[in-house]
Amino acid sequence: MKGRITVPVGIERISFYTPRYMLPLRELATARGADYDKYRIGIGQEIMAVAPPDEDVVTMAASAAIPMQEDFQAVELVLFATESSIDQSKSAGLFVHGLLGLPQRCRVVELKQACYSATLALRIALQTVAANPKAKVLVLASDIARYELGSPAEPTQGAGAIAMLVSATPRLVTFDPAAGIHAEDAMDFWRPNYREEAVVEGKTSTRLYLHALQKTWEHFHEQTGCLLADFDYCCFHTPFTNMAAKAYQILQKIQPPETPKPDENSFAQRVEPSLQYNRITGNTYSASLYECLACLLDQAPNDLTDRRISFFSYGSGCTAEFFSGTILPGYKQHLCTDQHREVLEERTPLTVRQYEDVFNLAVPHDGWDYTFGQYRTGPFRFAGVSGHKRIYARNE
Ligand code: HMG
Repeated sequence: MKGRITVPVGIERISFYTPRYMLPLRELATARGADYDKYRIGIGQEIMAVAPPDEDVVTMAASAAIPMQEDFQAVELVLFATESSIDQSKSAGLFVHGLLGLPQRCRVVELKQACYSATLALRIALQTVAANPKAKVLVLASDIARYELGSPAEPTQGAGAIAMLVSATPRLVTFDPAAGIHAEDAMDFWRPNYREEAVVEGKTSTRLYLHALQKTWEHFHEQTGCLLADFDYCCFHTPFTNMAAKAYQILQKIQPPETPKPDENSFAQRVEPSLQYNRITGNTYSASLYECLACLLDQAPNDLTDRRISFFSYGSGCTAEFFSGTILPGYKQHLCTDQHREVLEERTPLTVRQYEDVFNLAVPHDGWDYTFGQYRTGPFRFAGVSGHKRIYARNE
């Protein structure tokens, strides 16, 4: 197959976590005087995850990594991708390192570039393992998407984390070396240090996303000669599922004219199976593309063995990457499908009033000590602040 040089490193396990609370967007539409079809069809979202005050990027990432605990002693590098950073100096990865009891012979760092950083983390992980096949790398991507209450972006909020174990004994996916890349200094979405909510130029951001997709595709196509028809499935960074639909349309449009027309169901077959989790969690920023991969692996109706997947990663500001990979034989035995079903099904729905109360209970910035009330979380919780230190606890 064109452009395909399989390297013997890749993803061994992938696991997703999302908070135990959610808001059905039908309720939000009623409260905001919006037509629910705008959210459900126009944007393509039905439910958004809501993180309670004692859940943050650390607790979500640590919870996501729990299914990999048998491999923790082999982890030599932790890469933590987030744009919901909790400290200007210390990596959120070190809090996770402590909570999970990871080895001290380990490197730990946090990476930031909007929703893109998990893709660079994955690339660094693949290179690290290729250079030292005994090492395993824990890639964590964890974010809470917050926009202003009542803003057009509000129904695209969400929260969640992905953990990926990258090793020289991949069980799920290997990646091809070629990548189409793009960077440009733009202001489509950003969050100044003094704000809890992102600032976004919504229409500019969707245009830039599609422009970056086109640029990365051109670069990828130049290197590999691949066409869209060479891929069985397409995973996109998904801020809301209709964005993935727009992305797929653009990819179809920019194929050479002699390319055979894909059949009418091609979006349903190639993209839709990766979108089911996103539709009911909302945007998980850095985790979003890999949440789509986890969803595809769990939910695709057909056997994915040897199926070729394209990936598009986008981070506002902006950087983007188009790359590809292949699903490995036996992948089904190494999935966390049951945990994902449980975490998605056993969520507590909030009323709009409860969601707004939780939204407004931001971590205080006054430097005083606080103990937080206990909400439902996964195995870990952010218990409070003492002497300017964040205190985490393990739930019994
Ligand atoms: P808006 O401007 O209020 O929405 O917010 P709209 O008026 O454009 O409507 C949205 C869609 O709903 C349209 O469809 C309407 O036609 C349709 P489209 O033309 O787009 O196909 N619609 C309806 N459909 C059915 N029944 C109805 C109805 N009414 C309207 N009654 C916007 C949309 C995306 C601007 C807003 O949600 C927003 O600002 N979101 C946040 C920014 C964002 O997610 N951008 C995406 C690209 S940037 C990115 O992905 C990076 C990011 O993840 C951050 C990072 O990198 O860190 C955000």
